Amino acid sequence: MSISQLSLTNFRNLKSTTLDFHPSINLISGSNGSGKTSLLESIHVLCQACSFRTHQLKQCISHGNPGFLLFGRFGSYKAGLSRSQQKLEIKLDGEPIRRRSTLVSKTPVNIVNADSFNLITGSPEQRRKYLNWCLFHVEHQYSEHWIRFKHALKQRNQLLKSRQDLNLLDYWDGYLIEPSVAISQYRRRYTALIAEQLAGRLTELPGNIPITLDYVAGWSEEAELKQCLEDSRDKDIRAGYTNYGIHRDNLQIMVDGRPAVQVLSRGQLKRLCLALIVAALNIVREKSNKKIIFLIDDLRSELDEASQQIAYRQLTDIGLQLFVTNLESHIPTALRGKEYKMFHVEHGMIKALKKR
Ligand SMILES: Nc1ncnc2c1ncn2[C@@H]1O[C@H](COP(=O)(O)OP(=O)(O)OP(=O)(O)O)[C@@H](O)[C@H]1O
Ligand SMILES: [Mg+2]
Repeated sequence: MSISQLSLTNFRNLKSTTLDFHPSINLISGSNGSGKTSLLESIHVLCQACSFRTHQLKQCISHGNPGFLLFGRFGSYKAGLSRSQQKLEIKLDGEPIRRRSTLVSKTPVNIVNADSFNLITGSPEQRRKYLNWCLFHVEHQYSEHWIRFKHALKQRNQLLKSRQDLNLLDYWDGYLIEPSVAISQYRRRYTALIAEQLAGRLTELPGNIPITLDYVAGWSEEAELKQCLEDSRDKDIRAGYTNYGIHRDNLQIMVDGRPAVQVLSRGQLKRLCLALIVAALNIVREKSNKKIIFLIDDLRSELDEASQQIAYRQLTDIGLQLFVTNLESHIPTALRGKEYKMFHVEHGMIKALKKR
């Protein structure tokens, strides 16, 4: 669903306001420190109940205030989210909800900013998160498997760490294996889907770089996970944690048989990151049929003009609701001629601009 209206109160440096958005393209300008990223963050928080800048939502409370409040109108529902020093409250259509996932599954939101370019150069965790994002929004079973896996891993690690009741390890191994195998199969399947997208015209990779994507399971491929957990039990007890499992999976990105990170230039890596993101957005859009909110924070400082234009063209083709920040009120060439709405932020005050 796209967001048609947002009301925000006491969020970061932003002055309390209500904004009406364009269903496709929203451009946000303002000088350094004006509050552009904070506006994107408020949309992210309202859709996901988490921020892309901090693990502590409390940090988003405007200094000196008791809490922030966000309220948004989406196509067929209304969402409200408040965070005080003590608690987080989420409401859908006025009714409090207990599970964050109820909110998260409503409207997929994703962002590209300077940190996104760690998708290839960063740790495997970044790539697991990337796969998870697709899977959470498309495969309804995935979040159930995920919750069970997280619970079992936590219990198993607690046993290993305490070195007490080690006879319960068999029980937790059994509980861990089923969701792990399911998650692993999903991840393998989606890796192949993403590779297909990359090979297609959609992502327009520079210079026909021969990219291969491989899902690498976080345990030896020769052994079943059950066997692997049994074999590594002594090692796990010594370490106090579980050495093998889907929490060690990787999405391996290779160019001509070498890790992409060793072969590609900085600019090519960024283009490849964007291609991966576009592939994921396209898969979620096609398979879930949900409208995705996509936040773009200052792409101009990261990509050259040609790469930006390719990115915008691909993104508008997918049919997302875009929020794009820039220092100046600049309209990317690829977006010219399209319908959009423009906002300007100054010292936390957001104003909708009239079209010239
Ligand atoms: N909890 C808070 N309460 C009040 N102000 C805050 C809070 N957290 C951050 N700020 C301030 O909000 C301002 C806006 O930050 P933001 O990152 O949104 O700016 P920006 O427009 O994206 O800037 P840039 O162009 O440099 O990226 C900053 O001056 C920051 O110090
Ligand atoms: Mg910013």
